[in-house]
Amino acid sequence: MYNVLVTHDLPGNYIDSINGINIIRRPEGEDANAWLLKNIENADGILITLNEKIDKNLIDLGKKLKVISTYSVGYDHIDVDYALKKGIKIGYTPEVLTETTADLIFGIMLAAARRIVEGDKIVREDKWKSGWNPEFMLGAEVHGATAGILGMGRIGNAILRRARGFNMDVIYYSRHKHDVDAKFMPLDDVLRNSDFLFVCLDYNKDTYHFMDMPKFKKMKKTAFIINGTRGKVINEKDLISALNSGIIAGAALDVFETEPIDNNNPLLKMNNVVLTPHIGSATDNTRKKMAEVAVSNLINGLSGKPLIYEIKK
Ligand code: DGY
Repeated sequence: MYNVLVTHDLPGNYIDSINGINIIRRPEGEDANAWLLKNIENADGILITLNEKIDKNLIDLGKKLKVISTYSVGYDHIDVDYALKKGIKIGYTPEVLTETTADLIFGIMLAAARRIVEGDKIVREDKWKSGWNPEFMLGAEVHGATAGILGMGRIGNAILRRARGFNMDVIYYSRHKHDVDAKFMPLDDVLRNSDFLFVCLDYNKDTYHFMDMPKFKKMKKTAFIINGTRGKVINEKDLISALNSGIIAGAALDVFETEPIDNNNPLLKMNNVVLTPHIGSATDNTRKKMAEVAVSNLINGLSGKPLIYEIKK
């Protein structure tokens, strides 16, 4: 019987319904990476999340490993090239989370532009003393503004559709031109013209710190940057300086260079940013769909069937 290590319980009862496979769950309180290292030797498959680091060392220890199923669309936590070289199949969960993640990304953009979180705080903290006031809490206009999208993959495309619904002009930069209802432009032109810049790039060695100070300096002083994919695509130190010195106006971030965010991160003290704890795909329905795909990928991989979504190079 195959042995499978499962690092986290998943929404829905897909794991419980697995038959004929020995499911070994991480005991509560044990560090997932340490637990994987301790137990990988006898594992035929692993069902993991984006928190677990699947590096060369772990892959080498996993002498019997046949399938890595990650409960995520991102796979920057896995040494994909090495695993594939060793003949290990890798499953992931794209598509089922695209619309939900785009909803959140668009939502935090609106929250930053219209100062929704700040406003909520003012009301709750009994600081709303002026009543309705013509100059109180003026924000940035979204309809009619220019949305710039970096990366026209699944999420970029879902943002584009939302932006169109809000009557925004949409421009984008991507490695390839796409047949979409938006204007393709060179990167610098997208940086210069965007009122709201959505970073929708996959994270890999080429996109590490893709957004840095030289690029922030090309943006409008009134612009907002929005990131809901991976934190490391933005140089966070540069972003903090750009926000503090008025090089750009604001940010909406669901992802960070370090997660969970350090409690001394300067972003936590800034009013011109909206921060959420990496919850792009966090709805009950979407997380259940991700679980269904991740479990199917695992079972199919072990039984030699095609995975629902497989990473191939
Ligand atoms: C992913 O799946 O990679 C997202 O970041 C979380 O759903």
